[in-house]
Amino acid sequence: MARLLLVSNRLPVTVKVEKDSVAVVRSPGGLATGLSRPHERSGGVWIGWPGDVSRLSDSQRSQVEAQLAGLRCVPIHLSASEVARYYEGYANRVLWPLCHYMLDRVPRQDRDWDVYRKVNERFADLVAKHYQPGDTIWVHDYQLMLVPGLLRQRLPDARIGYFHHIPFPSSEIFRTLPHREELLEGLLGADLIGFHTVSYVRHFSGALLRQLGLDTDIDRVIWNGRQVRVGAFPMGIDTHVFESLAEDPSVLEDVASIRRNAQGQRILLGIDRLDYTKGIPRRLLAVQRLLEREPAWRGRLRFIQVAVPSRTQVDAYATYREKVNELVGRINGLYGSVQNVPVHYLYRSFNEKQLAGLYRAADVMLVTPVRDGMNLVAKEFCAARPDEDGVLVLSEFAGAADELHRALVVNTYDVEAVADAIEQALEMGESERRERMRSLRAQVKQHDVHWWVASFLDRLQGLPTLSLRSTRGGLEALTDLKGAPHLSLLLDYDGTLVGFAPRPELAAPDDELLALLGKLVARPDTSVSVVSGRPRETLEAWFGELPMGLYAEHGLWSRPAPGQPWQMLEGVTIEWKGAVRAVLESFAARVPGSFVEEKSASLVWHYRQVDPEFGALQARELRLHLADTFARQPIDIMPGDRVVEVRPRDVHKGRVVPQATRGLPPDTRVVALGDDRTDEDLFASLPPGGLAIHVGNKPTRATYRVSGPAEVRQLLAALVAP
Ligand code: UDP
Ligand code: G6P
Repeated sequence: MARLLLVSNRLPVTVKVEKDSVAVVRSPGGLATGLSRPHERSGGVWIGWPGDVSRLSDSQRSQVEAQLAGLRCVPIHLSASEVARYYEGYANRVLWPLCHYMLDRVPRQDRDWDVYRKVNERFADLVAKHYQPGDTIWVHDYQLMLVPGLLRQRLPDARIGYFHHIPFPSSEIFRTLPHREELLEGLLGADLIGFHTVSYVRHFSGALLRQLGLDTDIDRVIWNGRQVRVGAFPMGIDTHVFESLAEDPSVLEDVASIRRNAQGQRILLGIDRLDYTKGIPRRLLAVQRLLEREPAWRGRLRFIQVAVPSRTQVDAYATYREKVNELVGRINGLYGSVQNVPVHYLYRSFNEKQLAGLYRAADVMLVTPVRDGMNLVAKEFCAARPDEDGVLVLSEFAGAADELHRALVVNTYDVEAVADAIEQALEMGESERRERMRSLRAQVKQHDVHWWVASFLDRLQGLPTLSLRSTRGGLEALTDLKGAPHLSLLLDYDGTLVGFAPRPELAAPDDELLALLGKLVARPDTSVSVVSGRPRETLEAWFGELPMGLYAEHGLWSRPAPGQPWQMLEGVTIEWKGAVRAVLESFAARVPGSFVEEKSASLVWHYRQVDPEFGALQARELRLHLADTFARQPIDIMPGDRVVEVRPRDVHKGRVVPQATRGLPPDTRVVALGDDRTDEDLFASLPPGGLAIHVGNKPTRATYRVSGPAEVRQLLAALVAP
């Protein structure tokens, strides 16, 4: 098995400095909890922040370093200002609320970005230092979104995975971030990007499409000539640990004591980091509402809420803490008695054993975050119920709700509905409780943390690494081309010689391009052809004067030299056009921003100005509809760059090659440049020794690749440079 380099903001252990003592303790939160055992098993190291060690004496520091080394943990020490600006500032004041849909919590000024980027660079440098060829690198969570990209620059061939442990929000939310493109590009440095749910995958793909114009093809997207996979891998827990703890005699004693103390009251339980995403106030309000509307439950409920101190230096957390304190006080004031209070509020953390006792003692577990990437507490509760009892009330806004269908799934924003669910849970008969818990436990057991780690790593390690990277940079082709005795250049136009414009007529050639083409046609032993999907009138108007071959409508029309007549391929019928036009026009009418372009023998539906996701969906529907309706017609339905084109069957750019190269000396090097699927036909038809250069980052059969029109022009200019 390959060595695993785990990279996360926090190490699985944190150094706690008290007055005179120093201790290395388990870090809070699901990430540290979930990955610590896989780390113990793999042979690699874990790189991350051990917490604040600035107050340690030298001897304490070396003691800590030794302990960390024993745990195969490599610390990255953060300065006070880095903690304040990278961790508290950008990660927890900007990305955390944003990914949890809380835009109004994001500060107005984006002043911590630079430090976020610098600390991500520090992480990448340290990982690169520890990397050995053959290692698998697995980067975790929103604090390190730039690390995959930074690592890719440092280690182009490394196998890199990234997992996002928190929600990935809808692209409508994500797009509000000033540095949205950099963050997405950072993630795209990975080979595999994992999320907890398919909705997060969808949102991420939506953001790629809107922000970077990248299409995700089921589970892969092409970026910088590499394939990046995305997928949903719902994280699990170490079920076995919680299950065994829940049977441990000392835990069972704790359970008995918790229940004895409750004196027959029914126990409701909440366990969360004290975080504003966890929905504690609404949960308290729901308990209050239940007591208010159902006097029979007064004095009969004990709600134990554990709130683990978290991110206490961030104001929002301090304010939230006060709000929770106040609500607890209010409810206890209203519904407590001399003997008892309804809410038992514990502001501290517990170890796994204590948690197992609480889980097992509870009648109803309340996991009601307003937004949560996954929520492992919900799963731990099920694992800790080998007695197959206890009811889980679960927010539909937690990733866990995608799997735990037999919980009572609630809309946490609806306080009345949560109160209803609590009541339903309290009144649920034993057989239903058992049936639900059995199903929940089966799910949690089957998809535990080991399954999660294995499914992510199997996928990552099973990916072919070299598939697209073998395409060489197009400028490397130059020497080859310059040395050729004769050259024939076949140039696509849109996306190759010029960038895309909102409407086709706006992408006319600029003076620089015309001058460049002028020089190319004057180059000795060089023939130039433009092979485009454009109508012949357009090519004629733009390039008619130049001594080059013009091929319009993907080769349907050809004009080998100026002054010669345009000729159409023989045997092409266009009787289908009227009926197809009617369909395309009906789509244009129902999809605002789209329109139909008509050429002599083809029709194109353009949707570049349509909302990209909606446009892509409509394009798919249009293609299906056309394929179905016109199955017997001699047409090809071609998806292109934000277009669907319908053209006569077997008319394609490949058919241009024999015409464009007719009469050239046999040692002519034929070179084709193009950016989309239609150019792949051209590439496929090149004669032996031909050379294909793909423009952009789509999958291609070409040997060479350049990034876009600017690089194409650079390449062509170099050919005619003195
Ligand atoms: N946890 C803990 N001590 C506590 C409360 C919680 O160790 O007092 C652990 C809990 O067992 C769980 C994790 O913290 O594994 C919380 O993970 P979850 O996904 O529920 O929420 P997160 O804190 O990651 O937002
Ligand atoms: C969540 C995040 C983790 C984080 C944990 C604890 O689980 O996804 O990345 O480590 O909370 O938060 P903290 O800020 O204390 O590391």
